[in-house]
Amino acid sequence: MAFFDETNIERFSNEGRVEGIAKVTGKGKYAAEYDLPQMCYAVLVDSKIPAGKISSIQTEIAQQVDGVLEIINYFNKQTVPGLATPEKIKESKFGLPIFHTDTIYFKGQPVAMVIATTLEDATYAASLVEVKYQASEYEVDFHKKHPTVPLQAAGKENGNIENWNPTTKFIEQEYTIEMEVHHPMEMHATIAHWKGNDRLRLFDKNQGVLTVQKTISALYDLPPKNVEVISEFVGGGFGSGLKVWPHVLAATMAAKHVKRPVKLMLTRPQMFYSVGYRPSSWQKIKIGVDQNLKFTGLIHQAKNNCAIYDPFNDRITRVSRLIYHFGHLKTEEAVVPLNLAAPTWKRGPGDATGDFAIECAIDELSYHLNIDPIKLRKMNLALDQNPDNGLQWSSNFIAEAIQIGAKKIGWNKRKPQPQAEKEGDWQIGYGMAVGMWHAGRQQASANLTLTPQGDLILRTAMTDIGTGTGTAMVNVMHESTGFPKNRIKVELGHSDLPPAKNQGGSTGLSSIVGAVHLLAEDFKKSLLKYGSTIHKEWEKLDFNSLQVTDTALNIDNYSLTLEQFFKELELEKLELEATSGPDSEREKWAFVVSAAHFCKVRVHLLTGKVVIDQLVAVVDGGSIINPKAAENQIIGAAFGGIGMALLEEQHVDSKLGTLVGHDLAGYHFAVNADGPKIDVTFINKPDPYINPNGAKGIGEVGIIGTAPAIANAIYNATGKRIRSLPITADKILKA
Ligand code: MOS
Repeated sequence: MAFFDETNIERFSNEGRVEGIAKVTGKGKYAAEYDLPQMCYAVLVDSKIPAGKISSIQTEIAQQVDGVLEIINYFNKQTVPGLATPEKIKESKFGLPIFHTDTIYFKGQPVAMVIATTLEDATYAASLVEVKYQASEYEVDFHKKHPTVPLQAAGKENGNIENWNPTTKFIEQEYTIEMEVHHPMEMHATIAHWKGNDRLRLFDKNQGVLTVQKTISALYDLPPKNVEVISEFVGGGFGSGLKVWPHVLAATMAAKHVKRPVKLMLTRPQMFYSVGYRPSSWQKIKIGVDQNLKFTGLIHQAKNNCAIYDPFNDRITRVSRLIYHFGHLKTEEAVVPLNLAAPTWKRGPGDATGDFAIECAIDELSYHLNIDPIKLRKMNLALDQNPDNGLQWSSNFIAEAIQIGAKKIGWNKRKPQPQAEKEGDWQIGYGMAVGMWHAGRQQASANLTLTPQGDLILRTAMTDIGTGTGTAMVNVMHESTGFPKNRIKVELGHSDLPPAKNQGGSTGLSSIVGAVHLLAEDFKKSLLKYGSTIHKEWEKLDFNSLQVTDTALNIDNYSLTLEQFFKELELEKLELEATSGPDSEREKWAFVVSAAHFCKVRVHLLTGKVVIDQLVAVVDGGSIINPKAAENQIIGAAFGGIGMALLEEQHVDSKLGTLVGHDLAGYHFAVNADGPKIDVTFINKPDPYINPNGAKGIGEVGIIGTAPAIANAIYNATGKRIRSLPITADKILKA
């Protein structure tokens, strides 16, 4: 008996994600799953020391392994034009100039690469490459090093911050968050295939094919169109696929050396130091409030670790200019270079980190003043305008979101004093936090093809990293035209398709649906125009009332079959393309997506174990295009937030100069068992100016605010204020 009935496939795909069946049946191909004739395998040899220089590399023994084709390293590589000189390396902004430097910046840095006809041969040979180093001093301890790095102004200072009103009450506290890694299910991989000297094809895991195309073509001095990038299916990203990492270039170099297609897939442990992570951070908050419960000022200082070769700044204080009117405001940042691989954006980058400090400090202030933390927030929310530039919000329903969330969690049951509610050995508490993110939109294009057989194909270069981009495109096309969802096919993630930028920063859906909306309008207008050469009367009709099915065009009392339509017009197919992007509305309005997060926890008195009883997220994401995919986004982000609050921590060992426990046994993610069923609500009111659909991206706000809501609930339960994430049981017991 078959496990699934093929006849059911259409029915299911009609209900859920367009790519769902392809994914779960294994028909959808991820980067590493392509098989090309003559393909061989590359395995990276990682540095065993955290700092120094390579003195020599012995490859003779490794070369003797069967199937080894080539071993590439600093001394024998074919120089990549864009990394030919130290100046070019700097200009390229590529980050780690893999194989183009003999300097070791971190333990794990690729120092050689074995290419062999089988993965097994390449892996074995890689273990036989012998590298000699001149080791030097290193530093991997963020907490030890950051006090030595001075802060610098980040953004405009408002008012004279030291001139606090004499009646002001303060909170002044420090907050830290340990390094967190992304770890999408699909590991990063690249298959590089040179078709001649100047044409390259890459099957690659990323969040934006055009970013890969631009980066690699620039490094090789090629016209972008000569580099074809295919990322049809992507198994998660969370930000790890926004940059082009050294392994992508390594695979490209390998394929050029051996003149065969080469596959390079990172191992799970390599993923911990090869594709970025949320950096370790330190923050200091000084916040003041006057007798009228109005904030009188904020000083927000933040530092994050970076690599020595890549000064990545996570922009942690940005969120301080988004949610509240603080009156006087001063924000400062610094990056702290360590002998570790480069960090990068991770879900809710910067804002999730900064929001933790801000939202915990406000909570603390509320206890200090003995008032409800919701009331204190409401007194100070910037509901009307962006507090930084004074532009009116296009829409902002955070006040409504807070109200709904409070009701859902049962905020009225919360005891204002900590440690006031117990059930046996469990202490019960409630907490909340607000999260916000700039609602963005990028220019994006999409095209369509309609065939006489009634197949509609929608295409864009944008990738779908698991967020439901393709499904949203189908939803918009269906809603605008009536065309049946199960006859719409979506093609994504290919650099030859109509251009669209990265799926990142919560801009994927809000960018592409604009293009699809426009495309649907053009589609109806075109059909009507063509149709009016058949039915003259159609000229007077409004394209908005046209309904298109997979067999016919229907408008008023007229009907025209697709077959007739194409036959009479002597057309083989209909093709259209549309582009939509931000415009002058950006000068008139400020755009924000927001969420109110509420949490009820129980904390065990004797063991410090935290159990999350309820987690509520109320999100203002404008119009919700696909409720199922949107809810799923928020649930996933909420679990990311649970991990951030309670579990995730990449350990770094100073004596070894590197990461420890960097595998999925040593690094603890939140899984379903670590949280309750997440209660997700959408305000679902269209934003009038963000795009034609009124939909704001929600990828980040699901996690921005989750961790402080949990931390604040833990305080309400236990009276213990833990200002360092993750809040593990030992920290609770020791506090
Ligand atoms: Mo998100 S950090 O922009 O993938």
